[in-house]
Amino acid sequence: MVAMTFVQASGDRKTVQGLEGESVMQVARRHGLPGIVADCGGELSCATCHVMVDEQWLATMPVLSPDEEEMLECTAETPSASSRLACQLRLTPAHDGLVVHVPRSQK
Ligand code: FES
Repeated sequence: MVAMTFVQASGDRKTVQGLEGESVMQVARRHGLPGIVADCGGELSCATCHVMVDEQWLATMPVLSPDEEEMLECTAETPSASSRLACQLRLTPAHDGLVVHVPRSQK
């Protein structure tokens, strides 16, 4: 199990358990958390799974692929340097304690 916390734009925080190999998007959906729409189901074609990775966890993230980088230009909220698409972030044991911030809007 990999504990991770989702912080909503309102400041609400929810800590849930993810599974190793699961994507951050899948964890949010499985727990019914608001704010991660994931229209395409993880196919990297919707940009509605936008999250901002907490700064202290950025170094643990997988390398940004050219396709993810291109899709990040389509997010509803202007992306920041910590923006990622949650469907592309697979949990490993190194992510235990991960914190991600959910944007105010995905559409
Ligand atoms: S779920 Fe569509 S790009 Fe991530």
